[in-house]
Amino acid sequence: MPPNDRSRAILLAVSGWERAAWEAKLRALAPHRDLHLWPDRIGARPQIAYACVWKPPTGLLSALPNLKVIFSLGAGVDHLVSDPDLPRVPIVRIVDPDLTSRMTEYVVLQVLMHHRRLRLYQDQQAERVWREYPQPAAGEVGVGIMGLGVLGRDAAQVLRRLGFRVAGLSRTGSSMADVETFRPDQRAAFLARTEILVCLLPLTAETRGIICLRLLRGLKRDGALGGAYLINAGRGDLQIEADILAALQEETLAGVSLDVFATEPLPPESPLWLHPKVTITPHVAAVSDPGALVANVLQQIERFEQGLPLNNLVNRRLGY
Ligand SMILES: NC(=O)c1ccc[n+]([C@@H]2O[C@H](COP(=O)([O-])OP(=O)(O)OC[C@H]3O[C@@H](n4cnc5c(N)ncnc54)[C@H](OP(=O)(O)O)[C@@H]3O)[C@@H](O)[C@H]2O)c1
Repeated sequence: MPPNDRSRAILLAVSGWERAAWEAKLRALAPHRDLHLWPDRIGARPQIAYACVWKPPTGLLSALPNLKVIFSLGAGVDHLVSDPDLPRVPIVRIVDPDLTSRMTEYVVLQVLMHHRRLRLYQDQQAERVWREYPQPAAGEVGVGIMGLGVLGRDAAQVLRRLGFRVAGLSRTGSSMADVETFRPDQRAAFLARTEILVCLLPLTAETRGIICLRLLRGLKRDGALGGAYLINAGRGDLQIEADILAALQEETLAGVSLDVFATEPLPPESPLWLHPKVTITPHVAAVSDPGALVANVLQQIERFEQGLPLNNLVNRRLGY
């Protein structure tokens, strides 16, 4: 690209994240490209061709007359497709090995925590108690991943390598080696063989509120672990938090790991915070690291300008 070609400028608009590291990395890797910054240094809007965004305010993107591509700086795009005035330009989402392996680390960490009963041993340590619990082999435990996309498949692969009996549920039921796969109309069978349910679904009109009491009651409770567990690292609005608490109360669930919540930050008054069977992380399962992801976005811009197809396009109709 010729230096200072202003018609190919990038807008960086992130809310809820530190902007400085994204800005520094964009300037370092694309020194000749004009960079516009929301909210304080937007500059001339007609010059903006590419928007790199995370939770941009509604209306910001529709006010860019020459926008060519929107890049979501995270894997999820629910923060974009909910904007009724979103311009009709391609939306690209992040698919990157750095983000994927971070999520797999989180999922494996939580699965192993429940499988190896770490919470129980932590409680015992506080009381200086030396007591051993039964330890089923991984091969006796059914892990079910709801959302067998980029992130779900990678986690499934590593869990298989550890020996777990892994199944996956996706919209199309697409197959995967050594993993039993299910479609939404086969959900009852998927749940009935699942002791540890991992949710890595996108938030769409179809998936909102999917983690409800009815679904949780379908999980296998009489398996090797002697109870059912839930891990949600997809989006908070996939879950009905009152139903998760009810499921814990009635022992439908024996333990829960939540990284995402309907309201973030999770309000201090939420009973989830201090529940002895709930493990909470503040939406950090797979953070978007500008050090790894800016190069990915710039490569796609280069491809686009060379007339090559964009990768990882979002299907607006499906919402993911
Ligand atoms: N907590 C965090 O830090 C964090 C970080 C990154 C991402 N995330 C979340 O993780 C989500 C998944 O990311 P990804 O990259 O794996 O997405 P992806 O590649 O688009 O995969 C989505 C999966 O969900 C399935 N799916 C969609 N709608 C469904 C439905 N109604 N019923 C059953 N399955 C359905 C898809 O089925 P098909 O395969 O048939 O299309 C696909 O397998 C993101 O959308 C985001 O919300 C969270």
